[in-house]
Amino acid sequence: MLGERMEKALCGQITAELYSSYLYLSMSAWFSSQDLNGFANWMRVQAQEELVHAMKFYDFIVSRNGRVTLNAVEGPPTDWASPLAAFQDAYAHEVKVTGLINGLVDLAIDERDHATKVFLNWFVNEQVEEESNTSTLAGQLKVMGDASGALFMLDRELGQRVFTPPAPTEQTA
Ligand code: FEO
Repeated sequence: MLGERMEKALCGQITAELYSSYLYLSMSAWFSSQDLNGFANWMRVQAQEELVHAMKFYDFIVSRNGRVTLNAVEGPPTDWASPLAAFQDAYAHEVKVTGLINGLVDLAIDERDHATKVFLNWFVNEQVEEESNTSTLAGQLKVMGDASGALFMLDRELGQRVFTPPAPTEQTA
């Protein structure tokens, strides 16, 4: 059984993950408008992964006999000055999400909610990857500067990213 504070905080994280999805979908749309279809693909896959994150929280709350209540999802920005600016925003956003996950872990410890703490381990690890991916790509874009040849090569590479749906057993992992 989930405590009231923990339940509310986990529901809040569903909203945060849905916002992440919304943000990356908006970035995907912006990259499409710039004819950078590989970048658009990468962001679209990222948006799909964020939906999976949201549903992991959703399923966990349900499995603990909690009650899911959904909040309003804020609208994301729609324009970026450059691919670099978009990835810098993506990295800053992931750092923020890491802070939210850490806050949930602190609360789980505070509430002596061991099941939630174990559940959150997956997200603690995932955030290391999320920060690293966005920071690496922002770094590469910074090094490239105005070299359009390098940008198109990276675009081609990012076009290879494929969304892999999680196995059913991972849904509540
Ligand atoms: Fe759900 Fe990008 O972390």
